[in-house]
Amino acid sequence: MCWQHREAETADTNMDITKGRQVLPKNVKPLHYDLTLEPNLETFKYEGTVSIELDVIEDTKSISLNTVDLEILETKVSAGGTVISSSPKVSYDMDSQTTKVEFDEVIPAGSKATLFHKFTGVLNDNMAGFYRSSYKTESGELKYMATTQMEPTDARRAFPCFDEPALKAEFTVTLIADDNMTCLSNMDVSGEKQVNSKMAGHKRKAVSFNKTPLMSTYLLAFIVGELKVLETHNFRVPVRVFATPDKNIDHGKFSVDLAARTLAFYEKEFDCEYPLPKMDMVAIPDFSAGAMENWGLVTYRVVDLLLDEKTASASTKERVAEVVQHELAHQWFGNIVTMDFWDGLWLNEGFATWMSWYSCNKFYPEWKVWEGYVTDNLQSALNLDSLRSSHPIEVPVKRADEINQIFDAISYSKGSCVIRMVSKHLGEDVFMEGIRRYIKKHKYGNTTTGDLWAALSDASGKDVERIADIWTKNIGHPVVSVTEDEKNNTIHVKQNRFLRTADVKPEEDEVLYPVFLGLRTKSGVDEEVTLNGREGSFKVPDLDFFKVNADHSGIYRTSYTPARLEKLGENAKAGLLTVEDRAGMIADAGALTAAGYNKTSGLLSLLKGFDAEPEFVVWGEITARISALRSAWIFEDDKVKTALKAFQRDLVSSTSHKLGWTFSDNDGHIEQQFKALMFSNAANAGDEKTQAAAFEMFEKFIAGDRSALHPNLRGGVYAAVLSNGGEKEYNAVVKEYETSTTADERNTALRALGRARQPELIKRTLAYSLSKEVKEQDIYLPLSGLRAHREGIEAFWAWMKLNWETLTKKLPPSLGLLGSTITMATSGFTHNDQLHDIEEFFKSKSTKGFDRNLQQSTDAIRAKTGWIERDAADVEAWLKANKYL
Ligand code: BES
Ligand code: ZN
Repeated sequence: MCWQHREAETADTNMDITKGRQVLPKNVKPLHYDLTLEPNLETFKYEGTVSIELDVIEDTKSISLNTVDLEILETKVSAGGTVISSSPKVSYDMDSQTTKVEFDEVIPAGSKATLFHKFTGVLNDNMAGFYRSSYKTESGELKYMATTQMEPTDARRAFPCFDEPALKAEFTVTLIADDNMTCLSNMDVSGEKQVNSKMAGHKRKAVSFNKTPLMSTYLLAFIVGELKVLETHNFRVPVRVFATPDKNIDHGKFSVDLAARTLAFYEKEFDCEYPLPKMDMVAIPDFSAGAMENWGLVTYRVVDLLLDEKTASASTKERVAEVVQHELAHQWFGNIVTMDFWDGLWLNEGFATWMSWYSCNKFYPEWKVWEGYVTDNLQSALNLDSLRSSHPIEVPVKRADEINQIFDAISYSKGSCVIRMVSKHLGEDVFMEGIRRYIKKHKYGNTTTGDLWAALSDASGKDVERIADIWTKNIGHPVVSVTEDEKNNTIHVKQNRFLRTADVKPEEDEVLYPVFLGLRTKSGVDEEVTLNGREGSFKVPDLDFFKVNADHSGIYRTSYTPARLEKLGENAKAGLLTVEDRAGMIADAGALTAAGYNKTSGLLSLLKGFDAEPEFVVWGEITARISALRSAWIFEDDKVKTALKAFQRDLVSSTSHKLGWTFSDNDGHIEQQFKALMFSNAANAGDEKTQAAAFEMFEKFIAGDRSALHPNLRGGVYAAVLSNGGEKEYNAVVKEYETSTTADERNTALRALGRARQPELIKRTLAYSLSKEVKEQDIYLPLSGLRAHREGIEAFWAWMKLNWETLTKKLPPSLGLLGSTITMATSGFTHNDQLHDIEEFFKSKSTKGFDRNLQQSTDAIRAKTGWIERDAADVEAWLKANKYL
């Protein structure tokens, strides 16, 4: 269709489809919403009225706005202070999720108008819009609260609105509820009065909140429920944590203190006051994502906000800190300055991800979080981005149902990698100065990626757009191949598109990135060397030692010759490489091996040489790469699988035995995680000592000695006893799940269930995930463990096919949770016939809402098929030569 055609068509539809986006017509612009909502926690319906003040941009005879699953009872249009239509024509378009209001009188451009709706809706069970969430009281009574999740496009489920991030307005909210309820919204309370409630048949309170600053609809929130509170005055404005009465509110202490300190820190870093009069953070029993940055009213999964330091592992504590600091970063980056449209989502999520690392590093330097960045965000980014079905960081999203799917490792992790690369290139201080200018300039406005680069250029005097734009506009990343010329002391480097499936077509390999080579030699790191074209040669002081991509701040893989890789292994032992270098180099070798750039035997030898590695983060990458290999070989011959397991056992056991599995107060944050990692890897590889220890601790623990099983080891021990035990252990872990009181303990137990392999127990795990014991938000937890064994992978997929209807009812495709469950159910396969079976199943179904997940999953299977075909014999030969076969 030619574009003129499209323009012509726009006139008749509810939508404006310029730029290919399905957006609202631009004839009016919202200025202020006066919104009143009254939820009924018995019928789970709610009633509402909204009065929207509008700026009329063009002569107007119709107004379109977003609604989903709302019943509009009454509509009035006013202009110049008088009602011009009290029964306008109201029609609905399902596809564009819009209600269109048409009237006879023309409201002239330049005037103000008001649109009034009275409506009702249902407090749904889908964790989207205005929804209900439940909890059990101590006496076992099921109780409900009402809460919201608007991002990305579900504010339209809660009330009629102009639901686009650029249509910022002010909001005055009133909530009507019984007197014993806590009512919360983005702002502080302006007043409370008693009103006659027709709905309740008795008097109720109407709680009004002060008018918000200019803000986007997706950041709005309101909550009604019986809540407990914890408050601190350590910050300029009150900071509070809320939870339902079944939770221990004291577990909010860590987060509330951290939040107060973080807000103070961010005010300084951004040189901009937190503009709201309070910060509330609420633990919601049913929550689809991890947390949501609603302005002044941040909502969380219980496990990501409440922390019991006595029963939580070190990694859980780090996760809570990450989530809190991430959401608070959004209060500036996202809430004060907002992306113009969803194709700029990465600005929000990439930055908040980077900022949470930046602030965590300032608050807890001993955690050394930047070391872990290389094995965490950098690997997630490169992993997903090595698939043909990846997408550019700035991705065009046209329709609401496409938006949920881009909350992925590209927007978050690759986005944050670009930020990290740019901040290292400019220097963190200069970078933060650019961020301050960006916030000052665009306060209460909307931006595109170019605005960020402009502010950073302004602060640095460098052309940031030139080096950064290419990374956000294009799909994929390069592999840089390094060869050496000994005679001339030079290295030759060449960049090509990297695909895990090893089948790059010439037309997919046209983008040439400015690659910062970060050349590490004995004389330090040369940050200036940049590869600007396809290939180039660079002098190195001494070929005896060099490494490219120092600390892995560049977004690419480096492919060395086998001899150089071996040499780098020795350099690592000799202490010439940083933790980031070692972990990153192993990750690159692993990824390149899986894609056929080098032989798996070379990777195995490299890993073998790391047996004396002293650092946690590096071991994290070593074990991840062995797991990736074992997973790719999971449907292969048992003999080879057993041999690979034995290799892992040899590699990890001695370090695990050396570190031990007892904990003392002297153990640092990293050491605790190190012990846990090595223990679970040794046990998982069949090491007798750790397995025996696992069973011993478990026995004592379930017999009532809670101190016998340290929180850091719980996940590893559950996995070990369920993989090797039977029904008795299974029942005990189920009991742990059902009787533990903290969300962290419960999740650890639930997550482990899938590890059990006996057919009967696999059946129980599958059935349990859909039982009433497991909330929709957690369905994926018991299922996730099934991916650890072939019986589980097969049973999970067979079960998904059989239970498709039930599953999609519980997890609607428009929600992110279904997509990730599909990824889990399918990505474990490795063979062509399995791939065909998956494709066959979905052929007859609409894949709207999870088509990206599916493509990525099938791509990942193809990559593994190729890896096995290429290297099955090579792996066997290496295992034989090393006496494992
Ligand atoms: N804005 C997101 C929440 C979100 C995610 C809304 C997906 C809609 C769809 C929030 O800021 C976020 O990124 N939360 C993360 C946690 C964070 C620490 C990475 C999450 O939910 O996992
Ligand atoms: Zn976020």
